[in-house]
Amino acid sequence: MSSANNYIKSKLNERKALGTYRILKTDKPPIDFCSNDYLGFARSAELKSKVDQYLKQHPDYLNGSTGSRLLSGNTAFCEELESEIAKFHDAEAGLIFNSGYDANLGLFSSLPQRGDTIISDELIHACIIDGARLSYANRYSFKHNDLKSLEDKLKHATGNCYIAVESIYSMDGDRAPLTEIITLAETYKANVIVDEAHAVGLFNRGLVSELNLQNKVFARVITFGKALGTHGAIVLGSSLLIEYLINFARSFVYTTASSFHQQVSVKMAYEFLQTSGKQQQELTDNINLFKLGLGDGYGLLESDSAIQSIVIPGNDRVKQIALTLQDNNFDIRPILSPTVAKGAERLRICLHAFNTDKEINSLIQLLKQIINE
Ligand SMILES: Cc1ncc(COP(=O)(O)O)c(C=O)c1O
Repeated sequence: MSSANNYIKSKLNERKALGTYRILKTDKPPIDFCSNDYLGFARSAELKSKVDQYLKQHPDYLNGSTGSRLLSGNTAFCEELESEIAKFHDAEAGLIFNSGYDANLGLFSSLPQRGDTIISDELIHACIIDGARLSYANRYSFKHNDLKSLEDKLKHATGNCYIAVESIYSMDGDRAPLTEIITLAETYKANVIVDEAHAVGLFNRGLVSELNLQNKVFARVITFGKALGTHGAIVLGSSLLIEYLINFARSFVYTTASSFHQQVSVKMAYEFLQTSGKQQQELTDNINLFKLGLGDGYGLLESDSAIQSIVIPGNDRVKQIALTLQDNNFDIRPILSPTVAKGAERLRICLHAFNTDKEINSLIQLLKQIINE
């Protein structure tokens, strides 16, 4: 066996020994407490038929975009969609990327330069970490949602400083104290970048707009693959920032643009979002039902969002509990270390507008039975 293959085998065996080996699965338990389809858009027959209808009305569209946006892949349709989305979120401009991962990678790798500073929350998503790593800027992380820790880092910042936070954290489900972070940023002349992946839908336009802070943040990243039920992402910010990203963000420049079909899905999902008050209310009701029903004593982290995490230390134990839940038809996945810190392994339970009271109550009953066994 070649030494490259030896290396691959040994790394995989290491994972197996640690109990952190990853596999792709196609069979899922039927009751969804796992997906990011918070409002049920991905499974909405009505939304699907809107997309179908729109496509039928535009029979000349191409199956694929045929190239990158800077070559053959750009269309007036895509540019109009960017303007519409920017307007919806009350931003000056927007630039669509093929995924939230690409959006954050492009933004954080291209904007901060050598001598600049990126300060991110310690729980920030991997794609921001990866983007920051690709830049030559100085990088620091501050303790989760801890303003004092953030200020300590701000005091040492050099050059242009960027603070990276998520409005709703993907693993804990809690909110960033955005107002306070922005006040600190103003004091230290830092630029705040907010990833709104898990906030759009729960707060319609996202938490930044909900708090009326859109004119105080430097940029926002909105992903289309979660509550919007489709795929892709947009960076929102000034026209100047968008002009810069078109020129320097490599994950934008060197990739084939999304297809018309994909962009129509996004356009229709945004239209759907504007009439989805009922689903948003159902989601809020389900979050409250779950939290009140489970109550204290089961390791539930403080969160008002669709992401409700129950900390169960130890990879083996959390995996065992997740298996029992799966055997009972609940699709709930364990989140293991090193994805989360050792000791903070957890069940990540995602609530949806479409979960029924019966499903939620049976889940609560089972959790109570097995967690403290
Ligand atoms: C906070 C956050 N940002 C960005 C991403 C990446 O978005 P996408 O799945 O569209 O690549 C995710 C999804 O995992 C996320 O949770």
